[in-house]
Amino acid sequence: MIAGLSQPQKTLSPKYFYDAQGSRLFEAICRLREYYPTRCELALTRRHLGDIARFAGRRIELIEYGSGAGVKSRLLLGALRPAAYVPVDISEAALQGAARRLAREFPGLEIHGVVGDFMQPLTLPVYRARSARRRVVYFPGSTIGNLTPVEAHAFLRMTRGQVGARGAMLVGVDLKKDANVLHAAYNDAKGVTAAFNLNLLARINRELGGDFDLRRFSHYAFYNAAQGRIEMHLVSLARQTVAIGPHRFGFDTGESIHTENSCKYSAEEFRALALAAGFRAERVWQDGRKYFALFGLVAG
Ligand code: TRP
Repeated sequence: MIAGLSQPQKTLSPKYFYDAQGSRLFEAICRLREYYPTRCELALTRRHLGDIARFAGRRIELIEYGSGAGVKSRLLLGALRPAAYVPVDISEAALQGAARRLAREFPGLEIHGVVGDFMQPLTLPVYRARSARRRVVYFPGSTIGNLTPVEAHAFLRMTRGQVGARGAMLVGVDLKKDANVLHAAYNDAKGVTAAFNLNLLARINRELGGDFDLRRFSHYAFYNAAQGRIEMHLVSLARQTVAIGPHRFGFDTGESIHTENSCKYSAEEFRALALAAGFRAERVWQDGRKYFALFGLVAG
């Protein structure tokens, strides 16, 4: 956080959004009328569940990055019936809640939750389920959009190494579309996304002894068409100095902290990105409006 706030363009990684409160606010975002990605992805996953299960294969080990509340996971687990399930999430509270619920719903399923940052090489647990024949990484929610294309490339390469030559990946990708639709999704009328963004500052106050005055920052999100991404910022409403422990950070009026990118791709752009990282798009499932796509990638 200190390093990010010391850059000319102050920047914080979106992974810090997800403390217990942030994870709850994110679940509220997923239910917003304006936030179409969750509903789109759920609907298209439901519609193509049989086909997705055939793509993934039998007796797999399913690893999910950013499993959150586990709503999509439940759908997939019911259809894929994997030999083992490894949900990975940075929010311990979210992970424990979801893993407990899923263990109750799928009594025979071997679940190994991992609290951690999936951008770092993870030490995966050792399984009892040695019968698993294939590793499949599930990465829904267009979380891949929260990485820049360069980061996404490196992440896909790392994952390609993790699943091996017979492995596969299921990736949810938010597609390029009318900028007004995109804008509304990150600027909801109820202000839940604003609260989610500002929680990052509240978290710095709570956990790092910061003295951010939340009334002196405002949520700002816009579509940067040249970069093909929604950018989310926290904009200082005044000239001010903020302290985090012994560190001091000056803000000019209108100066921002860049808190997130949400990159949007065309289906072709994403296919090319995956290919450059060693994955062939064997299947692409999309909704009727082409708002969202789920890619079935295989090594190759
Ligand atoms: N992966 C999601 C996205 O980029 C995460 C997200 C959705 C999000 N809404 C948000 C992150 C609002 C921050 C703020 O769409």
